[in-house]
This record gives sequence, structure tokens and C-alpha cells, in this order.
Amino acid sequence: MPHLYLHIPFCAHRCGYCDFLTSTDIALKKAYIDAVVKELALIKANYPQPLKTIFIGGGTPSILNLKETELLLRAINENFGREFSEFTIEANPESVTAEKVELWRAGGVNRVSCGMQAGQTKLLEILDRKSNYQQVINLIDNLHKYGIERYNIDLIYAVPAQTIDDVLASAKMVLDLGAKHISAYALKLEPTVKMAKAAIRGDITLPSDDYAAEQLDALIAYLNEHGLARYEISNFSAKGEESLHNLAYWRAFDTLGAGTGAVYKFGNKRYQNLASIEDYILSVNNGDLPIDESKTENLTVEEQVYEYIITNFRLSRGIDCQEFKALFALDFENEYRWWLKKLQNFQVLERTDKGYAFNNRGLNVANYLLSYL
Ligand SMILES: C[S@@+](CC[C@H](N)C(=O)[O-])C[C@H]1O[C@@H](n2cnc3c(N)ncnc32)[C@H](O)[C@@H]1O
Ligand code: SF4
Repeated sequence: MPHLYLHIPFCAHRCGYCDFLTSTDIALKKAYIDAVVKELALIKANYPQPLKTIFIGGGTPSILNLKETELLLRAINENFGREFSEFTIEANPESVTAEKVELWRAGGVNRVSCGMQAGQTKLLEILDRKSNYQQVINLIDNLHKYGIERYNIDLIYAVPAQTIDDVLASAKMVLDLGAKHISAYALKLEPTVKMAKAAIRGDITLPSDDYAAEQLDALIAYLNEHGLARYEISNFSAKGEESLHNLAYWRAFDTLGAGTGAVYKFGNKRYQNLASIEDYILSVNNGDLPIDESKTENLTVEEQVYEYIITNFRLSRGIDCQEFKALFALDFENEYRWWLKKLQNFQVLERTDKGYAFNNRGLNVANYLLSYL
């Protein structure tokens, strides 16, 4: 059963660090949702299998008004039903109302991912965020009120002026809200974003890599003490509270994508939807799946093997040698003997019951280690 990601490319404002595919031209919202409704019917016609999970991400899905939210959820329910193992929507706390949460629940949403980033006003200002902790509290209250008991909260570390105490205080604020899942990302600034320009001007100072690593180590220890284990490079959860949707990506399962820029892999093909909102709407209105044909890739077996390895090694469970053999008719240990030996010697990789996995030190530098495959 595939997993569907649906992108909502609108935000009320662009945060200082963000280079995601999103637009502040919210006048296009209504036409966009009308197009998504049509795309969902096209997806259903092309891929009739039931979906296991749905993730509506952004941008800011919670920016949709009640009418748009209702249209979107109705189209999902009409095409795919509502009994998904997991149906997540991403939310910016400042744009969520009780009525919206009630609509989400009625449409089958059973998990919410909330962008908090930090609990301290001084850091939210540096990040140029428009929300505050009280709004996160209100959002979680509304989730409880309408019976959505699974939620994730996003945090960012390695922010200018952020101390280890700030990171831990933010984690505590999240745990105080009963969250059983936290995503914690190291701040990464592409050269075009406002904060990168401020750093070049010297208006803000980025922390050293060593200090960022200390923040992460402190966060891992703190969350472990409070029952949340690191199950992926940037994701922590209580047992059984992992995100099923994201696990599907990391385990290289089949996925589908809807909305602008959505990237997905189905069988041996990788697709990417058109990035421009206008081109996307035109294509769907023509009755076509809005795929950017120039980006479609036929994955060779070698590419599928590589993708499987790099995504699975993001997980603390690592690679299952038997699953690998069943999928690719290859012996993982034989194929990568030299690399496995070297990484075990560096004490970043460990033997598990089922195969091999990075330990925390390995996960911290996973991309670097995987570049030597
Ligand atoms: C693409 S955003 C969408 C969610 C929602 N709009 C929000 O801002 O909360 C998903 C998450 O990615 C993280 N993120 C976005 N840009 C980032 C960056 N440059 N560095 C680190 N984390 C980033 C933030 O934690 C954010 O909550
Ligand atoms: S971080 Fe979220 S709210 Fe901010 S611009 Fe990016 S997608 Fe929009």
C-alpha cells in the first residue's frame, strides 16, 4: 500500500531561515485547492490501491481557510476513504483555530505536526517566526478537545544566540505538552535566505559545529531520560509513536505525491511534480498528472540499492540483511565488507540482531559516512 504526501505551498510570511518550496501569494490558494482536488482524482484513477498513510505538509497547510480545508478533506475522503493508519497535517500554531481542528478530525486526520522551533521569544525573533509558545499550548488543547491524540512538535537547534540550556528548556516545554514525538533539526542556511545574509553582514553569529554537536548530544541524553528515543537522525519518539509516514520514506517503500514540487518514488521510477503553482494548475486543468517530465528518473537496480541503503541507514534500526537479500538478491555483508569493517573500527557502526546500524556518533555524521559507500 503506498503512502501519499500532499504539498500546500503557501505561507503567510517567509521565515528567516526557510528555503522550502512555498509562496506568500495566498491569492492563488483557492485555485490551487481546486486543482489539488482534480489531481487527487487523477491519482486515484492511476493508482487504485488503498493508501496506508497521508501527510499534508508545506508550506503551511493550516493556512487554508475552513472552506478550503473542507474541500480538500472531502476530496481525500471521496477518493481514498478515511481509514488510514496515519493521517498527518502540518500546522503553524498561529493559524490554527478550534473550528479547523474540528474539521481535521471530521476528515480523518489523526496526527498533527506542529512547528514550534524554540520556546524562547528571543530565538523566535532571530528565526523571524510569527508564533509563540502560548499558541502551541492552545493548539495542543484543541487537539485534545477534538480527540487528536498523536502529535509531533518540530524544534530547531544550532540557532544564533541559542544555548544548551535553551535547547533543553524548549525540549522540556514540548514534553510538558505531552508530546510523544519530536523532530529536532540543526539550523541549515541556504545562501539565499534572510538569516544567511544577516550572518554575512555580521548581524548574527552562527554557532560552531562543535557547539551544535554539543547541543544535539545534550538533547539526545535529555530526551532519552524522558522516554523518547532517537529513531532517525532528527526524530525522537516514545515506543510505538514513530511516524509511519516518514518511516515509509526511510524504508524506501512506494510513495505517491500531490501538489507542487512533490517528489515520490513508485516502483523503479522517481517523479517530481511541477514546481510552479501556475504550471501545476494549468497541467491539472488539462487533465494530466502534473509531473515535471524532465525530472522523471528510471532508477537502475544499482540506484535502487543505493537509495535503499542511504535511507535505511538514517534509521537507528539500520539495515536488515535478510530484507536486503529478499529485495535485491544480494548479500549485504559480502557487498560492503570493506566499508562495514572500516566503520566498525571507527566505532560509528554496530552489528544488530538483524544487520547493521549507526550508533549516535554515526547518525550525527551519517551523510559523510554514506558518501564512502
Ligand atoms: C518545511 S517546515 C513546514 C512546517 C511549517 N510550515 C512550520 O514552519 O512549522 C517543516 C520543518 O522543517 C524545519 N526547517 C525548515 N527549514 C529549516 C532550516 N533551514 N533548517 C532547519 N530546519 C528547518 C522546521 O523545523 C519546520 O518546522
Ligand atoms: S518554516 Fe514553515 S512557515 Fe516558515 S516559511 Fe518555511 S514552510 Fe513557511
